[in-house]
Amino acid sequence: MAEDRINLVGLAPEFTLPSAAGGAVSLRELRGSYVVLHFFPRAGTPAWAEEARAFQALLPEFTSLGARLVGIAPDSPSTLARFAAGGGLTLLSDPDRAVARAYCVVTPAGRVQRATFLLDRAGSVRWAWRRGKAAGHAEEVLVTLRALQAADEAINPLIRARRAYRALSGEPVAREALERLVEAAHLAPSCFNNQPWRFVIAEGETLDRVKGALSGGNYWAKRAPAILALASHRDLDCKLSDGRDYFLFGCGMATGLLMIQATQMGLVAHPIAGYDPPAVKEALGIPEEYILIALIVIGKRGEASTLSDKHRAIELGPRERKPLSAVVAWNKFGDPNETEGI
Ligand SMILES: Cc1cc2nc3c(=O)[nH]c(=O)nc-3n(C[C@H](O)[C@H](O)[C@H](O)COP(=O)(O)O)c2cc1C
Repeated sequence: MAEDRINLVGLAPEFTLPSAAGGAVSLRELRGSYVVLHFFPRAGTPAWAEEARAFQALLPEFTSLGARLVGIAPDSPSTLARFAAGGGLTLLSDPDRAVARAYCVVTPAGRVQRATFLLDRAGSVRWAWRRGKAAGHAEEVLVTLRALQAADEAINPLIRARRAYRALSGEPVAREALERLVEAAHLAPSCFNNQPWRFVIAEGETLDRVKGALSGGNYWAKRAPAILALASHRDLDCKLSDGRDYFLFGCGMATGLLMIQATQMGLVAHPIAGYDPPAVKEALGIPEEYILIALIVIGKRGEASTLSDKHRAIELGPRERKPLSAVVAWNKFGDPNETEGI
């Protein structure tokens, strides 16, 4: 493995470490802030002093971008406290190097390497530097943070990338991947945490029976290697006295998360309403009193040539949406003339 390769991506490993300022700091507490996590072998060396001074000098800029600066070294909290140059930097003690090891910055000889990880507000590692030169490093981290922050203010790339694609390759999707989609859905919020969603994953002969119950316009879904049925019942979630039943809302949110997870995994997850509900319910053993809210067609993307002319145009065309002004108003409900189609 190359020494300077970024080999830690995704959620940053959690830790709780004693602080030079007294008490302990957990990474979890810093969620909501960017975190510049700097590992170094020992406080008080010339390289450490240069870097600490540079970060300290740029502290107002880092703070204005909502970042916290955290240094981690094997030194004891009291040793770190002697070098805590003027506050602003949170120095944490990792004497047995367990955290450094979790971040893959310990050499086989047991030495902590200089390395910096830039974590986003959700706690994911978005950038990493290993053993860079001390000179100019703080500036480089700041420039990267500025770019990251600007990117994070835009629409989430997975939300932008998700589409209700129809062209499927027919390639199988592993059971673990299907389970992970449901796991993502299951992390959705729900009224009183009632979790009203019930999924049935159809495969094999059962999948063929479900496919037989699709409406003609959903011919494309016959290439799907898996179809998920989403069913629920109003008694499974909050029912408020003014008629607000929340089970459909909860199931919708779960489906939203499932689709985002699918997009991240390079899968299509396309919800459909066009099917014969009694036939699908019978094929899947879903009790009559349940509502079969949607089928979610899962697969990998395939050739647009398998689609009808109309669907091919949609598949390859731009995303269509009403103007934002038709769905949102400030302070007063929107002009009904502008919310046509309701
Ligand atoms: C509840 C629901 C039912 C849908 N039913 C169908 C369907 O039966 N067949 C189909 O091809 N697409 C269906 N869609 C997909 C929508 O047509 C699609 O999401 C919409 O045109 C917007 O396109 P986009 O998701 O690519 O942005 C359905 C979507 C939802 C949320």
